[in-house]
Amino acid sequence: MNIVILLGAPGSGKGTVAGKLAADNANLKHVSSGDLLRGAIAAGTAAGNEAKGYMDKGNLVPDALIAQMIKDVVAESEQSEQSNNQTILLDGFPRNLAQAEILEKMGAPVKSAVLIDVPDEIIQDRIAGRRTCPKCKAGYHVKNLPPKVEGICDHCGTALTIRKDDNPETVKDRLVVYHRETEPLIQYYSGKGLLKKVDGMTGVDNVAAAFLAAM
Ligand code: AP5
Repeated sequence: MNIVILLGAPGSGKGTVAGKLAADNANLKHVSSGDLLRGAIAAGTAAGNEAKGYMDKGNLVPDALIAQMIKDVVAESEQSEQSNNQTILLDGFPRNLAQAEILEKMGAPVKSAVLIDVPDEIIQDRIAGRRTCPKCKAGYHVKNLPPKVEGICDHCGTALTIRKDDNPETVKDRLVVYHRETEPLIQYYSGKGLLKKVDGMTGVDNVAAAFLAAM
């Protein structure tokens, strides 16, 4: 088992690319820290209840809380039968230098960290148009990646929703947090010789193909 880290601003396309690659390649597994946290909130767990206030404001949840969830997923993957051939596409973790050090201490082998590069001025439009399936987690965009039937998930027929933290004010705050907390990871992984970069402005299929080649 090895790990490929997805780096990029909120709305840069991390979840879209990882979801598409995992759907097309049996040995790739998409692990999204945001989905794990939203799942915990929906399930009403203690961790979910603690995380909710931070997420609604666009702030990072405490490192220990999300690190425990990631440790559990990595341990589960290591024990699975497919472990030898499996690559985890780790989307949303690490989110700061402290989390990068936690990941390193877990001993999970990081193969590369791939930055999906999208300028800030595009992010608001990407997020304003995002629609998400609350059941199967498939992601859409009203203009760029519309579902076949408006408002309905192509895969499971569930009504699509808008994420609570996708309002313009919270997106501004999430971008500030990204530049302050997460952007230093670009330098961190570059220093380790693990950083790759793909242009996130070329359409979903092209970005996914470039990501696969880079990772
Ligand atoms: P999280 O869920 O990780 O959100 P995020 O990083 O802000 O990223 P997004 O999910 O918003 O964007 P994305 O890059 O996946 O874009 P997408 O593919 O959907 O985190 C949410 C919150 O949880 C955080 O704010 C924090 O509170 C907490 N959290 C999570 N992890 C944490 C951690 N490690 N530590 C602490 N706190 C943590 O694409 C966006 C839209 O664009 C979609 O509509 C899509 O269809 C469209 N699109 C995608 N690609 C393209 C393309 N190439 N061309 C045109 N449109 C495209």
